[in-house]
Amino acid sequence: MKFFVDTADVDAIRELNDLGMVDGVTTNPSIILKSGRDILEVTKEICSIVSGPVSAEVVAKDAAAMIAEGRKLAEIAENIAVKVPLTWDGLKACKVLSGEGRMVNVTLCFSANQALLAAKAGASFISPFIGRLDDINLDGLDLIQDIRTIYDNYGFDTEILAASVRTVNHAKDCALIGADVMTAPPSVIKAMANHILTDKGLEQFDKDWAKTGQKIL
Ligand code: E4P
Repeated sequence: MKFFVDTADVDAIRELNDLGMVDGVTTNPSIILKSGRDILEVTKEICSIVSGPVSAEVVAKDAAAMIAEGRKLAEIAENIAVKVPLTWDGLKACKVLSGEGRMVNVTLCFSANQALLAAKAGASFISPFIGRLDDINLDGLDLIQDIRTIYDNYGFDTEILAASVRTVNHAKDCALIGADVMTAPPSVIKAMANHILTDKGLEQFDKDWAKTGQKIL
């Protein structure tokens, strides 16, 4: 499973990228707001750090304006994936932009039927939001599983980009189901390294090592 980082925090992106943990980056208008930076400038900096797809989201609502915004965002760098919402106009924009050879990430997907439409419109990525479904007592992971089944049934090559990943268990379950990509905040990716038994084991090793009186260096 590929890891995209869901942030515009360039220091966090650099740290994870240096460890080989970054296959791409996703942003959205809320993430840009949180960064306090200009969308074109921060996206350009991210694209200079990361070689994989970097999603930048359009904000227009009608297809023609989305296409114009998408073309402008795509000028930032070769690895831009234009992010469009899963609306009828978003699907129209997806069809045109993907037809021009651009990567398109169709976002705000909450149903398997929406994912089916995005694949048919030529999306490179479909972004089903797990956490936001969990927030309203629905199972976001069921949606990932349904999309996996449908895409496999028909051989769609649109990649399932599990989004709104909030917990380490979301990450594990996405990998078990076979999501192609997950996008998660840096804190979730880093938390995947944690285990209480690792901490307890280290504590015991430290105590025993001190008793040996030895040194390695
Ligand atoms: C994905 O592309 C979105 O930016 C993101 O995963 C949304 O996550 P949230 O529901 O935690 O805001």
